Amino acid sequence: MILFSAYPLGILTVIVLLMLTVPARAQYCSERPGGCCPGRDDACTVPRADTLCYCDEFCLRSKDPDCCPDVFNNCTALPSTKSPLNPNPITTGDCIYQGRNLYAGDSIKINCNTCACLPMVGGYQLECEENVCLIREEIINSVNSESNGWRASNYSFLWGMTLEEGIQRRLGTLKPGRAVAAMTEIDIEQTNQLPESFDSRQKWPGWVEGVMDQGNCGSSWAVSTTAVASDRLAIQSMGHMRAPLSAQNLLSCNTRGQRGCDGGRIDRAWFYVRRFGIVTDQCYPYKSGMDEASMMTRHACMLPRYKTTPCPKDKVTSEKYQSSPPYRISTEEDDIKAEILENGPVQATLLVKADFYSYARGVYKYTRGSVKESSQHRRKGYHSVRVLGWGVDRTDPDNPIPYWLCANSWGSQWGEDGYFRILRGQDECEIESFILGVWGDVDMDMMQG
Ligand SMILES: *[C@@H]1O[C@H](CO)[C@@H](O)[C@H](O)[C@H]1NC(C)=O
Ligand SMILES: *[C@@H]1O[C@H](CO)[C@@H](O)[C@H](O)[C@H]1NC(C)=O
Repeated sequence: MILFSAYPLGILTVIVLLMLTVPARAQYCSERPGGCCPGRDDACTVPRADTLCYCDEFCLRSKDPDCCPDVFNNCTALPSTKSPLNPNPITTGDCIYQGRNLYAGDSIKINCNTCACLPMVGGYQLECEENVCLIREEIINSVNSESNGWRASNYSFLWGMTLEEGIQRRLGTLKPGRAVAAMTEIDIEQTNQLPESFDSRQKWPGWVEGVMDQGNCGSSWAVSTTAVASDRLAIQSMGHMRAPLSAQNLLSCNTRGQRGCDGGRIDRAWFYVRRFGIVTDQCYPYKSGMDEASMMTRHACMLPRYKTTPCPKDKVTSEKYQSSPPYRISTEEDDIKAEILENGPVQATLLVKADFYSYARGVYKYTRGSVKESSQHRRKGYHSVRVLGWGVDRTDPDNPIPYWLCANSWGSQWGEDGYFRILRGQDECEIESFILGVWGDVDMDMMQG
């Protein structure tokens, strides 16, 4: 009995041992004309099986799965392009980070940067990438040390991303083109007395969409458009048409002139909703950017999980909901208020600055901070959100702060349950610059349905 089961195991061990010894003989970087390359060099490759593997310094640091098997053995003599984190080499042959021992070739991730313990002249040193991270302790501390009306905090779902990745994967609205920005504004008739505060969710309970999560996909152009379209359809149909519309439908099918998870234009999105219509979210649920995936590997942005799913044929025949062409509302506070009060939430474009990602609560206003920072640290991107109402924050009775109440699309763990408030009346981060409203295409069938 014992012999019977031990024998096949013995064969298995031999096979495993054979497999383990093969990569040691594999020659990739050592046979590459030009050898290894400093820094991050996406052209520094060797064919491997039916794909490519990499021989650059980035691989040494990051343990990218696309690295060649011999990169660590053969590329360690590279002149380093980064400054060492630990200026005093440790001569015992390893590196120490926060009391932790690391050995040659080990790598760790410190926020958005990968650090590797590399052999250097005179010993081993921990060397790190120098990306600007999306969530930074300096920003959180600097915002929270001032009394500027809002508080910042850490978000584990954003921690570990670079600012660049945040701009690419958490925003996704392209700046309106000149022709669109020059769109004529409609005249708003000021019939109602404007209240000091207003919240669409209270006036139209159950008809206003909740907060969505766009995931790691730059799809705010589609998400904000379908959310405003859904709200407007529900309100204009007096609640007869209440199903949320599918952001995935727009994201996957409105491909002309749009870039899917790499961003899109809201004027083109509205054109699509008007011309072709959108099915419900239940019929075509949102999936893009939802997978848990490391943002670290070289090909992160090209991985299929960050792409949109193709537009399936069976969705094309399902019932669709259309809208009127969108109309632009002036940048006047009272016009924007009157439009929301009368017709429901509006769509706004927002210029997102580096501190916005860390917003926790209060009335947001860009905070420069005291630290002198490079332009890399100040990178901005366009986003689009829904404005649901307005109010005045009287937390500090001596300093009332007027605000717009907005819905973001980063899930409900961000901000004030997924919502945020932003300074009103000063075009803070361009929030009042480009406001759109729309009419749903509500017909009598729908009213009776
Ligand atoms: C890498 O391989 C090349 C070619 O075989 C060899 O000349 C070079 O010394 C190797 N470098 C290291 C650090 O082992
Ligand atoms: C932020 O959250 C992450 C994940 O929960 C944690 O590892 C990190 O230390 C936190 N950073 C700060 C500055 O609190």
